[in-house]
Order: sequence, then structure tokens, then C-alpha cells
Amino acid sequence: MLKIGNLKITPPLVLAPMTGITDLPYRKLMRRFGAPLAFLEMINVRALSYKNKKSEVLLAFEQKDRPLGIQLLGREEKFILKALEIVHRLNLDIIDFNAACPVRKVVRRGEGASLLKEPKKLFNLLKLIRKNTSLPLSVKLRTGWEKNAINAPELGCLAQDAGVDCIFIHGRTREQFYTGQIDYETIRKVKKAVSLPVVASGNILSAPLAKKMLDETGCDGLLLARGALGNPWLLKEISTFLKNGALPKQPTLNKKIKVILEHLNEMINFYGEKRAIIIFRKFLSWYLKGTANACQFRNAAYKLKSKRELIDLLKLHFPAQAKLLK
Ligand SMILES: Cc1cc2nc3c(=O)[nH]c(=O)nc-3n(C[C@H](O)[C@H](O)[C@H](O)COP(=O)(O)O)c2cc1C
Repeated sequence: MLKIGNLKITPPLVLAPMTGITDLPYRKLMRRFGAPLAFLEMINVRALSYKNKKSEVLLAFEQKDRPLGIQLLGREEKFILKALEIVHRLNLDIIDFNAACPVRKVVRRGEGASLLKEPKKLFNLLKLIRKNTSLPLSVKLRTGWEKNAINAPELGCLAQDAGVDCIFIHGRTREQFYTGQIDYETIRKVKKAVSLPVVASGNILSAPLAKKMLDETGCDGLLLARGALGNPWLLKEISTFLKNGALPKQPTLNKKIKVILEHLNEMINFYGEKRAIIIFRKFLSWYLKGTANACQFRNAAYKLKSKRELIDLLKLHFPAQAKLLK
């Protein structure tokens, strides 16, 4: 069991915050597949303070969608304090502070992964948050800014001294963005350096890779990110494999199509058809990765404009499943 402050998470799997992905429809689906802790999409404290239409969409949740966390991005104290007031009003369950986002426009503002290069500033921000919230608090780190500047063990200790309850760590540097090998060794060093729970991220794409992360790092929990895109079955696959070493059968195409329709309908209810279809195109490609003609399918999927067109495309590619596709 993973314990973060007063939260008990079993199995110890956390749905990672992902911009453009972990919206309410996606989380609803993942909850049905057993996600025990999820996060809203990352939100900039400045945007949160100016609460506009876009932040309203980012903040939407339902009572069943719990425990639920918010990931804050920023560096300006006054906006962080304002954001905390809003978080408390929303009555969320955990706060994560982002020191991991590698995106150029974010690091240029001195936010996200840029804070890996400013340990003292990061410490002060975490201390400020700690002082102003009693919610469980985590920080999301990367191993370091670049391969010659690995400093996550030192940052983990600082975060612990600042009073955080848990370390989330993506086992790559900022320089690596989202590709390249996972640095299991540095995650292991972080775990050794702190007495806090450590939740590891990076290439949790299958149950054996999840086990590898736990075995090689001694971490307490795992953050699921790209591995679960188009594959909500991964949660069960990992928890079963960790329990008894068995790998469940891959879902059938019928099951995949039912989940596609469930996810799509949730998206349409939430965003309206036009916007939902545009956002859903990428999910469709993920769901159908590995099926026959996946590449051809993906190209066609990117032109879809309506639910009708989407259903017709599925029928065309999967005539044997036509009964499911009314
Ligand atoms: C599309 C996308 C959006 C992401 N957005 C965020 C984010 O907003 N905050 C964050 O901490 N990590 C974000 N991540 C990083 C993931 O949480 C995770 O740490 C990373 O993808 C490594 O795990 P993986 O190799 O299993 O995907 C994002 C990743 C992807 C692919």
C-alpha cells in the first residue's frame, strides 16, 4: 500500500497528471478500470488565480472521481498563495508541485523543470506551500536538468526538509524530454536518501516494466502515463502481475471498441461533439495501435469531424464488429 499523508492508495498506482489528456472523461474511464488516485491536468497558478473558462474545464470533477489531486505549476509566491485558496475551496485531496515539465515556454519562465536548477528556490516554494496547506503534498521531479547535472537525490532531501509528504520522480532528465533510457539508479538513490514514499515514473508501459521499476529502485508506487493511453487494462494487468506473476489475456477487439465508444460518449457529453471529436482523434489512434492497418487508420482518423464519421471509419476497418457500431 502507498501512503501519502492521510491518503492510502491500493494498489500503489497513480494516474499521472498529463496535459491535454487527464480531463474528466478520461479520468472517469480510468476510475472504472480501478485508478485509485488521479490528477487533474496540470494548471498554472497564474491561470488558476484568474479563473477563466479554460481553467473551469480543467477543474471539472465529480464526487466519484476521488481521491483527486491537482498539480500546480509556477514560481511566483503571490499566485501560489492565491491558487492554494482556490484549491482549498475546491476541496481536493492532494497537491503536487511541478518541477518536472520540460516544455520550452515553461522553463523559459523559470517554472517546471527549470526549478531543478534552483534548489533553494524550489525549497522555499515547497516550504511556502507546506505552510499554507494541510493537504498531502508531493513534488514532481526529474533526475536532473541534464546528464551532467543529476541532482534528484539532493532535491529529494530538500523537499523532505521543506515538509512534502511524497516524491514523484520521472526517471529522465529535462534534456531527455520524454525519450531515452530510464535512470533507475538515480531513482534508487532518491529512495535511499529520503524517508518519504517515492512514486516513480517513466516507461511504465507493461506489467513487467512496472515490476522492473519497483525491483530496481525500491520505490513505493508507480505513476502511469503513456502506458495507459489506449490501454486502461494496464492497471489491472500490473496489479495482477504484482500479486501472482500472471499476465492476463490482451483485450479483444470487441472490448476495445466498447471502451472506445464509452470514452467517446463521455467526451461528447463533456465537450460537445465538435470539440470532442478533435480531442478524441489521438485517443482513437492509441486504442487501435497494433491492429491491422493501424497507420492507414490513424491518417484517416485525423480528418474526422463527427461521431457519425468516426463510427463509419470503424465499420469500414472492422466489418466483423459492425453490430457494436450502430
Ligand atoms: C502528453 C503528455 C502530457 C504530460 N503532461 C504532464 C503534466 O502536465 N505534468 C507532469 O508532471 N507530467 C506530465 N507528463 C509526464 C508524465 O506524467 C510522465 O512522467 C512521463 O510521461 C513519463 O512516463 P511514461 O514514460 O510512462 O509515459 C506528460 C506526459 C505526456 C506524454
